[in-house]
Amino acid sequence: MALSDETKAELHELAGRYPEARSALLPMLHLVQSTEGNVTNEGIELCAEILGISAAEVSGVSTFYTMYKRRPMGKHHVGVCTNTLCAVMGGDAIFERLKDHLDVGNDETTDDGKITLEHIECNAACDFAPVMMVNWEFFDNQTPESAIEVVDKLRAGKKVQATRGATITSWRAAERVLAGFEDGLVDEGPAAAGPSLVGLEIAAEKGWSAPSVAEAKAKPDATPDDKVGAVEQADTSRAESETKAAVSDDGGSKK
Ligand code: FES
Repeated sequence: MALSDETKAELHELAGRYPEARSALLPMLHLVQSTEGNVTNEGIELCAEILGISAAEVSGVSTFYTMYKRRPMGKHHVGVCTNTLCAVMGGDAIFERLKDHLDVGNDETTDDGKITLEHIECNAACDFAPVMMVNWEFFDNQTPESAIEVVDKLRAGKKVQATRGATITSWRAAERVLAGFEDGLVDEGPAAAGPSLVGLEIAAEKGWSAPSVAEAKAKPDATPDDKVGAVEQADTSRAESETKAAVSDDGGSKK
């Protein structure tokens, strides 16, 4: 299906948001995905034309980042983190169970077109491992059973909410948000919670806080530069005493 005039106008709008138009390439590719279901050849050529760069450059970007898809996606993208921490906490087991349950392999879509399953890398949510993402919304502390419940509900068209509160829409809708067009749902769910805040809570309990720049400068040992200075000073002193020892050992003839 050809890109609509509306999408073309929005691609131009994105290009106009940046001092250097080519900076808009990433959101433009997300926009193409949101309407076409993947990065199409037509989308690549149009992005190149609007930005005044080559189709090969656009293609290079779209094949470098894993969030850009060259094959049509299902309605929902389900990503299971199988990076080290999530893997040992159960991510590998979740991924295996989902592959069996959905009868797909990695990066494949179910026959009904509802779910594309992919194993993904660390999502910087290791404190909630094992983590699964649906259309890039977090599902924390998952088990094989909870993951299966989520995909079954998605396939049945039931309402699903991420564990942090966001309502699951669709992969295409999420892609439009990533392109920079808000859906009005940004405030759903907490910005940070649970294990991520433990360190902050302990600091508050104990009255700890980071020193100001002025305080750090007033305590020489606390600044990295001064620590380097202290190490250099220690090295110089050690070299001087080694030289003195050597001089006294051989009566001053050693050079
Ligand atoms: S290893 Fe899975 S979120 Fe970091």
